[in-house]
Amino acid sequence: MTLLAQPHVGWKCAVCGERVAIDKALAWRCPNASDHDTHHVLQFEQPIAPLRSTGDENPYVAFRKYLAWDAFAGALGLSEDERVALIREADEMVRVVAGTGFRFTPFARHDALSDALGFSQLGGVWVKDETNGVAGSHKSRHLFTELLHLLAAEKTGHASWSSKENRPNLAIASCGNAAFAASTLAKAVGWPIQVFVPENAAAELTDLLQSVDARIVRCPRLPNDPPGDPCVHRFREAVAQGAIPFGVQGTENAWCLDGGRTIGWEMADSMERVSGPPLDRVFMQVGGGAFAACGSSGLFAGGLRPALHAVQTQSCAPLARAWQHAIETGGGKNAGPRWNDCMWPWENVQPSLADGILDDETYDWVGVCNSMAESGGSPVVATEQHIIDAYALAHKVTEINVSPTGTAGLAGLLALRSQIADDERVVVVFSGVRRHFMPLPIAQ
Ligand SMILES: Cc1ncc(COP(=O)(O)O)c(C=O)c1O
Ligand SMILES: [Zn+2]
Repeated sequence: MTLLAQPHVGWKCAVCGERVAIDKALAWRCPNASDHDTHHVLQFEQPIAPLRSTGDENPYVAFRKYLAWDAFAGALGLSEDERVALIREADEMVRVVAGTGFRFTPFARHDALSDALGFSQLGGVWVKDETNGVAGSHKSRHLFTELLHLLAAEKTGHASWSSKENRPNLAIASCGNAAFAASTLAKAVGWPIQVFVPENAAAELTDLLQSVDARIVRCPRLPNDPPGDPCVHRFREAVAQGAIPFGVQGTENAWCLDGGRTIGWEMADSMERVSGPPLDRVFMQVGGGAFAACGSSGLFAGGLRPALHAVQTQSCAPLARAWQHAIETGGGKNAGPRWNDCMWPWENVQPSLADGILDDETYDWVGVCNSMAESGGSPVVATEQHIIDAYALAHKVTEINVSPTGTAGLAGLLALRSQIADDERVVVVFSGVRRHFMPLPIAQ
């Protein structure tokens, strides 16, 4: 099928340069990627200017025409009205299960946090609060475009299954916010999902997943397993047998990189109504990297270019190492073809209070490095004390019930504060809610 609706939208592998047409249904990764060579990642070729919200309360409707999904669904023959209707129907099903649908999340200067950190009236800290979003974190934003893709393919007869009754399983290897968000969306539309979790996953986490009907698969290391995470091995086996990758790593399903941009588009949109100078910096915590890659590219599409600081902890900092190697081997931009020189799993991951960002490999590192290079940003490696202090500070001066992973970007701001002028405008994203089983910080 030729793409007539938006001929400029397409995918290109940031590593090998292979192109994939936007109208290709169920194309999740670069055709040259395999389980033996996972070093490929599709990125959009999609100009966005100017970014304009329609004013709808649902970001996927408000920014629909900038979504790659919209070009995909249009190319499959769905009219604009049908595309809007599909988003609204899916959103309503999500609302029934999650208690909220997709809505713009709050974003504003936080006066008490700005004062606590010594910023002037002109400068300050803007907080994007994701804690009341669908499934309590930003992860659902990424997954919703994967879901919309599946629904559009199914509706137009472009899926590999014939009806709702014989849908293949969805699959994800995670036991944190991504797994909960994936299972919540799956339950909303009645789609079976397998969640591959570590052998010793805590009961609090598996209970949470079971509350939304996930089929939990515990993954002990098997005698013949190659090195690497056994959850990922079992996940890949399931995908090889026909399951659909439904996670938040661009390397496994590039469609997560589409909806993840709504977080940046929302911030850019609301800054248009704020007087004074533009944003100077944005701190985004990095695990697999999709969050920082999408959030920053969304902001940049809105005409803003704050320096991106990608924040990791001392316990696990493969991105900061990759950035260093990228600089030494030709620069931070377009480092994809230099993957082997730059990114490999962190050898000695230590525990951290910010346990949601301990991915030993930053899968979406190429996009994060591009954004840092384009914006004059840099990685920040926060100490564990910064992580602890940021969590405590957030709970002391804000009312937001945020998790330690959710305040890890703030830890990066604490680490860099002495190098930031008092009149700078900086952003942190409180990306996930504190669940009932997470300890409150020790009061300071
Ligand atoms: C609350 C929260 N913030 C940020 C991240 C990091 O996102 P990413 O893995 O896309 O880098 C995670 C990942 O699990 C998370 O749970
Ligand atoms: Zn490739």
